[in-house]
Amino acid sequence: MAKDDHSTVQNQMGTSIQETHEVTVVMVPLLLQGHLNQILHLSCLISSYNIPVHYVGTATHTRQAKARAQGWDPLAVSNIHFHEFSVPSYETPPPDPNAPTKYPLQLIPVLNASISLREPVYALLQQLSTTTRRLVVVCDSVTPYVIKDVGLIPNAESYSFTSISAFTMCTFSWEQEGKPRVFEPEILEALESLPSHEGSLPQGVIDFLKLQEESKPISSGDLYNTCRFIEGPYLDLLAKARAGDSHKQWAVGPFNPVEINEHKDTEQRHYCLEWLDKQGPNSVIFVCFGSNTTVSDEEAKQIAIGLEKSGQKFIWILRDGDQGDVFKEEVRRAQLPEGFEERTEGRGIIVRNWAPQLEILGHSSTGGFMSHCGWNSCMESISMGVPVAAWPMHSDQPRNAILLEKVLKIGLIVRDWSRREELVTSITVENAVRRLMDTAEGEEIRQRAKELSKTVKASVMEGGISRLEMDSFIAHIRR
Ligand SMILES: *[C@@H]1O[C@H](CO)[C@@H](O)[C@H](O)[C@H]1NC(C)=O
Ligand SMILES: *[C@@H]1O[C@H](CO)[C@@H](O)[C@H](O)[C@H]1NC(C)=O
Repeated sequence: MAKDDHSTVQNQMGTSIQETHEVTVVMVPLLLQGHLNQILHLSCLISSYNIPVHYVGTATHTRQAKARAQGWDPLAVSNIHFHEFSVPSYETPPPDPNAPTKYPLQLIPVLNASISLREPVYALLQQLSTTTRRLVVVCDSVTPYVIKDVGLIPNAESYSFTSISAFTMCTFSWEQEGKPRVFEPEILEALESLPSHEGSLPQGVIDFLKLQEESKPISSGDLYNTCRFIEGPYLDLLAKARAGDSHKQWAVGPFNPVEINEHKDTEQRHYCLEWLDKQGPNSVIFVCFGSNTTVSDEEAKQIAIGLEKSGQKFIWILRDGDQGDVFKEEVRRAQLPEGFEERTEGRGIIVRNWAPQLEILGHSSTGGFMSHCGWNSCMESISMGVPVAAWPMHSDQPRNAILLEKVLKIGLIVRDWSRREELVTSITVENAVRRLMDTAEGEEIRQRAKELSKTVKASVMEGGISRLEMDSFIAHIRR
């Protein structure tokens, strides 16, 4: 047994005895930042109900998830039992800033390697099943292969965690069903202009997803990182599609904490938060394209000129997409125009590595978010009431952008997806930044984002709708 596993305790004779739990939960993430992070948040939420929670991964990935987790009391994370398994070594090439698509091809070997978790995870499940009345496995919906054999364990049941939006999930089934008219006309029109999702993925990923789809164990229900106030109608559509089977659905998001414990006097505070303290309310645009997007030197130059010309204050996270081991990789520094940093000194900050996004979004000086619209980023922005200038890069992101712009009306589009192969010029960037930060239209969008945030924050508080669904999930697994 791992040394951090509290289910083994030493008695006075020095021999180990097994403690029996009512329910034990095992969390199985996909080994990519956007997934590791959501599952770690969910682990902390479940663990707050005094249920033992185990989190599986590799040493590098659990270290990565812990190092980047924000908003939780460190004690909450230390209650989780992390299990670090080894997978065959793999090489990940550096990201190619000039690749024709923004999909992070460098991470496909990580997907491949994650397949080898199946054996050690099964061994862990077997072992834990003897120490608990019921073993509950929560597995990322894109990695069910790892728990393929869970059905062989009599006291185990599994739940699927969906790391993307309910809206995007609905658009996938809508595509498969030949595009029935289930959406409002304006949304339908936006969706019809998108290419098929599967066609936009690299072959390596299609193969990976196919293997996963074929290996799905029977799942007892779905958990979503969303809230009924955000995506109620789409959650209903998903539930309706499965009506008849005993399948259950819980929308328990946002998983991320919605109130940030600001440790204003600690030395650990990131310098960009200190800088934000000195700026006016809603005066800064935060620019960040997530953990796995890489911009080329030319794109960086256009963004730089656009930000400079906009006259707005900014924090810009300019880093290459993750590779396999985020603690080891060499970091390329994208080139900026000559003299840019001097000219924007005092008005903008460029951060070249990981930044505390949730805390930046939660700061009252942050008034806009230029984002790739990964689902974590969307949920964090919604929770914190920050409107979005949407610049989707790949995968589910163009669909999330439609959700923000057309459904929730808390965002605007930087550039149309149909022009994704063209360079985004500095003028486009400048206009989008001005529109969001310095126009009446932008202010209206911001007010809507703030209203939504209030509702969403209340939903995870005692008696709120997401909290009630979480209570219901917990009651269900404790039944
Ligand atoms: C992933 O695994 C498949 C099947 O084992 C292999 O054909 C493919 O080359 C691998 N891809 C990468 C990028 O490692
Ligand atoms: C890249 O990040 C996005 C969210 O920012 C996530 O949805 C996606 O799964 C990641 N993909 C890969 C291959 O890392």
